Amino acid sequence: MASTKPIPDLRPARLNALGAFAASIAHEVKQPLAAVALNAQACMKWLEQDPPQLDRARAALGVVLQASVAAASMVRSLDGMARQAAPERGPVIVDDMLRDVLQLLRAELRQQRVTLTEALSLDLYQLNADRVQLMQVIMNLVLNAIEAMRDVHDRPRAVQLRSAQLDGTLRISIADSGPGIPPALTERVYEPLFSTKPGGTGMGLAICRDIIQAHGGQLWSEAAQPQGTVFHLSFKEYTLWTPSRS
Ligand SMILES: Nc1ncnc2c1ncn2[C@@H]1O[C@H](COP(=O)(O)OP(=O)(O)O)[C@@H](O)[C@H]1O
Ligand SMILES: [Mg+2]
Repeated sequence: MASTKPIPDLRPARLNALGAFAASIAHEVKQPLAAVALNAQACMKWLEQDPPQLDRARAALGVVLQASVAAASMVRSLDGMARQAAPERGPVIVDDMLRDVLQLLRAELRQQRVTLTEALSLDLYQLNADRVQLMQVIMNLVLNAIEAMRDVHDRPRAVQLRSAQLDGTLRISIADSGPGIPPALTERVYEPLFSTKPGGTGMGLAICRDIIQAHGGQLWSEAAQPQGTVFHLSFKEYTLWTPSRS
């Protein structure tokens, strides 16, 4: 079936979405940086004592090292997102990618009092994909889930992230305990600019579907039980991860 609908240019919205992620990442990076400052100061104090408390200084330096490595890895993820112009495909281990996304979303989940549970079983499966784009899709879906539960006060705000092999496909699912999507809107939500949120861009799901389809995959949602929505991603083409010989 030929479509006459013009294909919108999704690039500006992609950059806007990046701004929202940047805020939550900045928040997350503050913690390790504070740990660096505090422990460097402590280290100085232990060294200045007479005699210098070398064991304590070394322990403080250990924390400095750990915290700076953590901060650097967060900044690297953001940097990768901002820098990327053309999609770049390569082998992506599904669960590694999902864990990286969760790392970036921790602060936001905590702040919004959302409990995230994960059931990941694609540690050995990889997609030939643009890693940053996949991360962006998962982030968008989890952020939508969080936003959908903003008015939930009478039950836990829960997000469940699953990855599994199912009927010869790889499946990633994100379920929430929000109000759900009315049946009449299940397809409309993918239309560019369709949003029910004040100030929403309505571009998130349009971009997500665009990216997933470009990867030969599918994106859809269904009602979650007992309430809420579950978004599914599925991919027909994948490979088993094998340790590289070097
Ligand atoms: N997890 C969800 N639960 C309920 N409704 C959702 C969920 N995800 C998306 N929607 C609906 O789909 C609409 C479009 O989402 P999206 O394209 O990401 O744009 P935006 O988030 O800017 O509104 C949302 O405004 C909301 O009505
Ligand atoms: Mg959105």
